[in-house]
Amino acid sequence: MPATVVVGTQWGDEGKGKLTDLLAREMNMVVRYQGGHNAGHTIVVDGESFALQLLPSGVLYPHITPVIGNGVVVDPGVLLDEIDLLTSRGIDCSKLKVSGNAHLIMPYHQELDAIIERYLGRNKLGTTRRGIGPAYADKASRVGLRVQDLLDPKIFRQKLEVVLKEKNQILAKVYNRLPLSIDDIAKRYLDDYAPRLAPMIGDCVGLVHEALEAGQAILLEGAQATFLDLDHGTYPFVTSSNPVAGGACVGAGIGPRHIDKVIGIAKAYCTRVGAGPFPTEQFEGVGEVLVDRGHEYGTVTGRRRRPGWFDAVMVRHAVRLNSLSEIAVTKLDVLDTFATLKVCVAYDHDGVRHRHLPYHQTVLHEVTPVYEELPGWETDLTEATELRELPAAAKDYIHFLADQCGVPIRLVGVGPGRDQLVRFDS
Ligand code: GDP
Ligand code: IMO
Ligand code: MG
Repeated sequence: MPATVVVGTQWGDEGKGKLTDLLAREMNMVVRYQGGHNAGHTIVVDGESFALQLLPSGVLYPHITPVIGNGVVVDPGVLLDEIDLLTSRGIDCSKLKVSGNAHLIMPYHQELDAIIERYLGRNKLGTTRRGIGPAYADKASRVGLRVQDLLDPKIFRQKLEVVLKEKNQILAKVYNRLPLSIDDIAKRYLDDYAPRLAPMIGDCVGLVHEALEAGQAILLEGAQATFLDLDHGTYPFVTSSNPVAGGACVGAGIGPRHIDKVIGIAKAYCTRVGAGPFPTEQFEGVGEVLVDRGHEYGTVTGRRRRPGWFDAVMVRHAVRLNSLSEIAVTKLDVLDTFATLKVCVAYDHDGVRHRHLPYHQTVLHEVTPVYEELPGWETDLTEATELRELPAAAKDYIHFLADQCGVPIRLVGVGPGRDQLVRFDS
């Protein structure tokens, strides 16, 4: 059976966790294909909230095999803590598999992430300071340590010796910090983490292909989102991996012909955490309502998310970049109290109208959004379970988004709960 990709179409936190959890009911396997514990994917079940950082969002179901793919960067301490926390809450994580080819986040990655942000000062990116960028940089520089190295203490130590020599020079001579001890790191990773992780480490490419050959349904869960993509996002205000659907092939070890469906997740408005351009950003008034009603504070860092109106120019671009088959719109209920709503349908720059994303970032920083105004519904949507229960204005809003983005909208979120969803046919 072919695989399905779930991908964020904006700047993250669109509700990928909730959608992945919902779709996982019909799946056999859920694979995280990139990112690390910079992600925070929330699932609310019977009023109980689970915020997952590294574990795939299908983990709550006993029938799912959760897989951390080769494209992910893994902090083993964080992973074990997450497993322990979920286990203490009655979730069985014993089926989890972690790719031996995934890269490890090491203590110097986290330290460098924080230091570099401080050095950037006013120009900082606003990273999650989890070591994500430095870990992917080492992967690309071919000095990274991989999860499989935990199973070979000799190789682990050899590699660590080489890389730590350089990292300690940088820490001490460039940033005036204390060097890190190889013995401390090796002890923590090899004595504390490795024995516990060993049974989970394996050949996840083999596992995924065996599942495909057996006709099983696989969901590939993206973290972050299209406009945080290293290649296609608002560089340099991006993460260091490829969340776009193409990244799912690389990060799970399958070819594009195995994917038959790509579901884009979009909030009914838009948010972004950290620095970078955001044409439809709103401040007091509208912005405050969106943050308050949407509880727009980061799952991982607790930072206030920057709010704004739905930007169809960006989501249209996400449709192209990901070959989206459909979109699921979340958090429609957050717009319940507005008398009128705005949707950005194009950008204006020096008198030129842009329906598609301008390739030059300077232009993106300078554009003025062109809005269409739509009537609000001023009705509580959170109890709606069927399409006919949605007010006409809410349906019109969704139809308008689908028209603007050029793909159907099939699911609409009206609350954080697992079942607070309306099936739609735009
Ligand atoms: P992710 O990173 O894409 O998985 O999204 P997050 O979990 O970081 O952020 C989405 C937030 O919105 C979470 O707190 C969800 O519980 C919540 N959420 C998801 N869908 C809906 C929805 O339709 N309505 C409301 N009100 N909240 C939602
Ligand atoms: P989920 O999967 C929202 C943002 C950070 C920062 C930039 C780079 O929950 O949607 P990094 O630590 O990755 O080097 O930070 O990316 N960022 C996210 N924003 N949701 C996320 O994940 C994010 N992961 C990273 O705020 O601007
Ligand atoms: Mg999140």
